[in-house]
Amino acid sequence: MLTVISHPLITHKLTQLRRKETGTKDFRETLDEIAGLMAYEITRDIPLKDVTIETPICYTNTQELATDIVLVPVLRAGLGMVDGISNLVPTAKVGHIGLYRDHETLKPMSYYAKFPSNLPRAVVMILDPMLATGGSASAAINMVKSAGAKVIKLVCVVGAPEGVKRIESDHPDVNIYISALDEKLNELGYIVPGLGDAGDRLFGTK
Ligand code: PRP
Ligand code: URA
Repeated sequence: MLTVISHPLITHKLTQLRRKETGTKDFRETLDEIAGLMAYEITRDIPLKDVTIETPICYTNTQELATDIVLVPVLRAGLGMVDGISNLVPTAKVGHIGLYRDHETLKPMSYYAKFPSNLPRAVVMILDPMLATGGSASAAINMVKSAGAKVIKLVCVVGAPEGVKRIESDHPDVNIYISALDEKLNELGYIVPGLGDAGDRLFGTK
């Protein structure tokens, strides 16, 4: 299922990300802020458990999170979304997946994976700002599934229709969250209008 998270603050900040003159520092801060704003929606269905606590006044029955949350950024650009979400969910553990897209074939090449041991019983959120062809996200989902993940959410910022279709077809059990559904991919596999190469803009490598 696809959820496009629409909110004026997210739209405003996404406009900043898209501007080609936005530099590395502002890009990094703004991407983190968008991820934090998205956290509100992507955690909406997280189960709660009943607990009894003591306030300074009395005992009371209330609720707290019942499930572990694991964040899995896809290197490199997914790293730019971790702090924004983990600031709000400080108990979340963080795994990592290393993937890059071959420039010629656009196929994902995997070079790293490390997950916390609670992955199979956690809600696993795969983080990557860009969902272009969907090849990288589909491979990342395969990797967490192979490691035992059962409940998986794919959290991106900008998605192309091609990427959304790919994930819906390869992984119909995975909920997809994006902030904007863009128009298309260009002949080089970049999202149009998009925001360019997210990893390069985040880390200043171009
Ligand atoms: C970008 C982006 C995604 C992938 C999306 O990473 O962060 O992981 O491309 O493209 P896809 O949907 O067509 O697979 P990139 O390959 O540029 O890796 P890098 O950030 O490490 O350079
Ligand atoms: N990866 C990016 O960083 N940007 C795109 O537009 C497509 C893939």
